[in-house]
Amino acid sequence: MSAIRGLIDVRVDDATSGIRDLIAGLSKTPRVIPTVYGYDERGSEIYAQICDLKTYYPYHAEWALLTRNIDSICDQAGTREIVELGCGTATKTELLLSRMAINSQAPLRYVPIDVSEEMLRRTSVRLADSIESLEIHPIAGDYHSGLSIVGQRPEASRLFLFMGSSLGNMSEEKRRELLGDIRSAGRRGDLMAIGVDFDKSRSTLENAYNDPPEYDLWHNFLTNRLTCLNRTFDGNFDPSAFDSRLTYNTDACRMEAQIWPRVDVEFRLDGLDLQGVIKANERVTVDTSHKFKPDELNELLSSTGMRIMASYDESAVKYSLLLLEMM
Ligand SMILES: C[S@@+](CC[C@H](N)C(=O)[O-])C[C@H]1O[C@@H](n2cnc3c(N)ncnc32)[C@H](O)[C@@H]1O
Repeated sequence: MSAIRGLIDVRVDDATSGIRDLIAGLSKTPRVIPTVYGYDERGSEIYAQICDLKTYYPYHAEWALLTRNIDSICDQAGTREIVELGCGTATKTELLLSRMAINSQAPLRYVPIDVSEEMLRRTSVRLADSIESLEIHPIAGDYHSGLSIVGQRPEASRLFLFMGSSLGNMSEEKRRELLGDIRSAGRRGDLMAIGVDFDKSRSTLENAYNDPPEYDLWHNFLTNRLTCLNRTFDGNFDPSAFDSRLTYNTDACRMEAQIWPRVDVEFRLDGLDLQGVIKANERVTVDTSHKFKPDELNELLSSTGMRIMASYDESAVKYSLLLLEMM
């Protein structure tokens, strides 16, 4: 029988640094709304629908890589505790957990970490229903807070999962910091499976990261952050006054998601005692997705104490699922 152990909620800890980043981001030029505000309940649901779009290759590439290489991954991983950063709907993870649970004599421990508590609860219930002998220990909070709890059980050997090319959604400094946190939460010999998206043509990327004709999923995913801010901080944004677009910055190797109002917008977030004016057509960055160069990734991994054990590659779209070992 599968079971969900009590949900650990560490979001109070991450609220302070999240709010600091938000205030700084909305006060500077160009303005930035941190990615994390994209994943309230509605944002998480829209993202799941984006994953169903045929054009969104990162999801489909990762699914194909997992399906094709599941035996190899499970052979190398054996039976370990599985810790997932940003599990979302965990539809791909379910493939892996189902296979590992079959191979495991004892209940398999799964520790999903996600800021979106509603999605985390729903995912945990679904997995507990569908996979025999899974023991789920959900943690609602940001990666850093979740990992600090994971690190309190140093005796476990683990497979960390970090999929959906989420490593690319943070700045270079934060990527290094997060890999360092993962390395500290784990121990020598622990493994990590990570989805990585590589630099490629602008047209391929912009096609994947924008709505196909007749769809408005990406647009709603990006502007929903304003609704999330209104609700969380008692604000007055009108999301329908904003347009959106994702473009590839080829110099920085980064997809940049921007929204902008069609007319000047006077905004206030009473809960933060913050107000200002966003001018018509002023770009506000609400998400970024870095696309790696191979050398850059190798340097990042080795400097944070990880070595590549296996690289499963979807060459047609330059997307890889890497199995890493902690040194
Ligand atoms: C790009 S989605 C990937 C979801 C899933 N892993 C997949 O591959 O389809 C990112 C997920 O990470 C969560 N997330 C984003 N930023 C986070 C943070 N700072 N700490 C914890 N979870 C975060 C989101 O709620 C979302 O579920």
